Amino acid sequence: MQIEAASPRQMLEFLLAAGVDVAIGDEPVNRLAPPPVQAPSAEAATDRQGRTPPAAPTALRPAPTAPDDALMAARELAKSAPDLETLEKLLAGFDGCALKSTASRLVFADGTPGAKIMIIGEAPGRDEDEIGRPFVGRAGQLLDKMLHAIGLDRSGVYIANIVPWRPPGNRTPTPQEIAICLPFIQRQIELSAPEVLVTMGAPATQNLLSQKDGILRLRGRWFDFPVGGRKIPALATLHPAYLLRQPGQKSLAWRDLRALMARLRSP
Ligand code: URA
Repeated sequence: MQIEAASPRQMLEFLLAAGVDVAIGDEPVNRLAPPPVQAPSAEAATDRQGRTPPAAPTALRPAPTAPDDALMAARELAKSAPDLETLEKLLAGFDGCALKSTASRLVFADGTPGAKIMIIGEAPGRDEDEIGRPFVGRAGQLLDKMLHAIGLDRSGVYIANIVPWRPPGNRTPTPQEIAICLPFIQRQIELSAPEVLVTMGAPATQNLLSQKDGILRLRGRWFDFPVGGRKIPALATLHPAYLLRQPGQKSLAWRDLRALMARLRSP
């Protein structure tokens, strides 16, 4: 039996179906090639005749910042921001998170800074990455409907994500990526100072509220988000992207929204 070689178009379709939808470098990298030869030591920088030998092959990409350094830099930068505008600028200039190099742009926030309700999702997807605003794709359209159901629209809330750059192929951000971005979203919450926080989905809920359980156990429960010496009440709920996949669970999200409104109305 003869197996036909895949055409370039079929290869591209295969990659897209596998979720590979961004190019992360201009040159292909042969990951099976032997490691580059070590650069000569300082003493061996010239040969016996005093000539400089040809340069050793250099790595294709600069070494990424060590995670601990990136985390410390993130903490320092975030703490130094006196307002949301400065925080956005500092975040845009921060190179400690590898997701920045594959995303098209920073997706900082939408809605009204300082609104009573702040909603936090996971990470931008393809549409958000293209437009630069959180929750503008299908999940965002469902979020708009959920807000509408409780008499709100985007102008009545402030929206952000725990990670502000799109993970390639819309994968879940890694614990390391989340940890490095966490000081920024924590400062963003502090500076916006909402009355109530709503965390959507497991990554936002677990990482902001220091929880380990799954979202189906956590949703509908209130937690305290400690910030600047005070505590902001935080409600965990289901992510709209999950509700698109599991529409039968919308009644749970509806229950959470009613609890949110009841809390805001109570003195
Ligand atoms: N999902 C999220 O968590 N955030 C977005 O901005 C879009 C989809």
